[in-house]
Amino acid sequence: MGNKMSVPHDVTDIGLADIGKNMIEWADQSMTVLRLIRDRFEHEKPLSGMRIAACLHVTTETANLMRTLAAGGAEVSLCASNPLSTQDETAAALVKHYSIPVFARKGEDNDTYYSHIDSVLDTEPHMTMDDGADLVGVLHSRRTDLIENIVGGSEETTTGVIRLRSMERDEVLKFPILAVNEADTKHLFDNRYGTGQSTLDGILRATNILLAGKTFVVCGYGWCGRGLASRADGLGANVVVTEVDPVRALEAAMDGFRVMPVAEASRIGDIFVTVTGNKSVIDRHHFESMQSGAILANSGHFDAEINLAALREMSVSERNVRPYLDEFELTDGRKIYLLGEGRLINLASAEGHPASVMDMSFANQALGAEFVASNSKSLKNKVYSIPKDIDSEIARLKLLSMGLTIDELTGEQTQYLDSWQEGT
Ligand code: ADE
Repeated sequence: MGNKMSVPHDVTDIGLADIGKNMIEWADQSMTVLRLIRDRFEHEKPLSGMRIAACLHVTTETANLMRTLAAGGAEVSLCASNPLSTQDETAAALVKHYSIPVFARKGEDNDTYYSHIDSVLDTEPHMTMDDGADLVGVLHSRRTDLIENIVGGSEETTTGVIRLRSMERDEVLKFPILAVNEADTKHLFDNRYGTGQSTLDGILRATNILLAGKTFVVCGYGWCGRGLASRADGLGANVVVTEVDPVRALEAAMDGFRVMPVAEASRIGDIFVTVTGNKSVIDRHHFESMQSGAILANSGHFDAEINLAALREMSVSERNVRPYLDEFELTDGRKIYLLGEGRLINLASAEGHPASVMDMSFANQALGAEFVASNSKSLKNKVYSIPKDIDSEIARLKLLSMGLTIDELTGEQTQYLDSWQEGT
């Protein structure tokens, strides 16, 4: 725990803070939109008086979001949204150099993970910022006494939004939530290009295998699956897609990928990656038909997508081969390799999505927090999409920072779009 000189914290090694500061500043160079927002927040202080509890992956990009919220006048505290995704250097730097309370250690066990969620909730927040809805989950179960202080929150990821929408449907959601994931400037870029690249980065760092010529099975063809399939294809893999949604399956087929059920793909795949948001997508009967040497990874939010309990039951031995790569020997002698304990591989063995794409996701978080702070009285206990004008403004600023300009509609064109009289 922290000492008297610093803000409260529980990090692995505060001695890593100087390395972390350099990494945070490096990421900040690519976070042009967030920087513009931070400059405005410095002057306008739109979050003044707000205590924000954040449960996000503790990365350099998240650090720059925390700095932005603090610049806006908020008192922020941060814990991890996954036990394996914390960058210990970043956590230390946030405490030492930016005076932001952080409770996160890479590799923490489940009890510590939840005790860190309790530590940020102990600040009695007015707002929550979640990636996977664990903060909201704890608030609605064990810490309901804190709900009366809360004016609203935000949710970063698809899995979290699905959980929250089901809470809204069951009429148990007790405060409004902005679904950052639903902004176009979030999922079209972060989920697709971010997950696409960072998942391959994680797989390659953990294994150093050649992808060219390998059969690469992508389970799920949402935005993350689309990005992953396209990037694996770019590296020369033979991509197979599995889906449960007929429209997405059709899209995958017309994007040029082979489409088949997981059971069929199990027999031919060299590498399997789950990005579905569901559980036991790769299950006992799939392990039974896999080739020896098959590699399994998950890039969905929770570690439920690969049935690890079944894999363990079927194994006679388990050993760590290299960081984030475990070997399971099955009773018939086949070997199956699991990356990153089945947790988000892009954050476990790599560094998550690059800063230039997190720039847009976290611009949505920062402007979303400002929106919740100034509209809290009119919001109901529902899940809201990010307002369209915020989404468009982020795209406009990103284009500007990339030195790209676009056309504007002429008066005649606007009128044409608004009219119905002109035809053939
Ligand atoms: N989710 C995926 N990549 C991330 C990153 N770099 N920082 C925070 N959350 C992320």
